[in-house]
Amino acid sequence: MSLNPFHPVPRHVAVIMDGNGRWAAARGLPRAAGHREGAKAVRRIIEAAIDQGVSYLTLFAFSSENWQRPAEEVTDLTFLLKHYLRSELNELHEQGVCLKVIGERERFGPNLAAELETAEARTAGNSRLTLVMALSYGGRADIVGAARRAMEAGVRPEELTEQVFAGFLSTTGIPDPDLLIRTSGEERISNFLLWQLAYSELFFTPVLWPDFSAEHLAAALSEYATRERRFGARPV
Ligand code: IPE
Ligand code: IPE
Ligand code: MG
Repeated sequence: MSLNPFHPVPRHVAVIMDGNGRWAAARGLPRAAGHREGAKAVRRIIEAAIDQGVSYLTLFAFSSENWQRPAEEVTDLTFLLKHYLRSELNELHEQGVCLKVIGERERFGPNLAAELETAEARTAGNSRLTLVMALSYGGRADIVGAARRAMEAGVRPEELTEQVFAGFLSTTGIPDPDLLIRTSGEERISNFLLWQLAYSELFFTPVLWPDFSAEHLAAALSEYATRERRFGARPV
C-alpha cells in the first residue's frame, strides 16, 4: 500500500450510522434505547472530527426508506431528532459548527422543518466544521430533484454539464466525500449520496454505531491515509 502524500486527512467524511437496533437487541433493550445511544455517538464523532482535522462531516441519520419502519419507531426517531436539536444547538454553535440539512425535511412536519431552518440560519457563519445532516434523504430523490430544478431554471440540454448538474443537487457547495464509513458490518450504500460518492474511498467496520468512538474514527482515517486515489488515471 502506498501513502497518499497529497491529502492525508480526508476533507469530507460521510458516515452511514448503522447498527442502533442490533446494539439494543444485544442488550435486551428496546430499539429506541439503541437510537438514544446512537445520538451520544453523534456528539462524540462531531468532536472527534473537529479534533482530527476533518472540515466536512455528513451523517446519514434517516433515509427516505426509513419511513417504512413501524410508526412507533419513526415517532421515536423524530422525537429524538427534535430533542437532539434543542439540546445540542448551543453547543454546536459554540464549537463553530455550521449545520446544513439535506433531504425532505418537510416530511417531519412544519414545526421541525422550521426549527431545522432556524438552526441552519443561526450557525451559517461558522466555519470550523460543516456538519451535513441527511434527514429523510435518498440519493435517487436528490438526483431527480436536481433534474427538476435544472429544468425549472430553464437550463438548456447543451448547457447541462456534470458541474452545472451538481449545482442543483442538495449538496451544492459541499465537496464530494473523500471517505465513506459504514458501521455495523453491512456493506452497501442504501441510497445514500449516489452521485457524490463516485470516487469516495469506502470503509466498512463491524462496530455498531452506538459503540463508534474517536479511536474508531482515527483508525478509519489512518486506513484512508494508506489508500492511493487514482480517479481513473494512472499513478505517477
Ligand atoms: C441506524 O440503526 C439508524 C437508522 C437507520 C435510523 P438501525 O436502526 O438501522 O439499526 P439496525 O441496522 O437495525 O441494527
Ligand atoms: C441506512 O441504514 C440509513 C441510515 C443509517 C440512516 P438502514 O438500516 O436503513 O439500511 P438497510 O435497510 O440496512 O439497507
Ligand atoms: Mg440498519
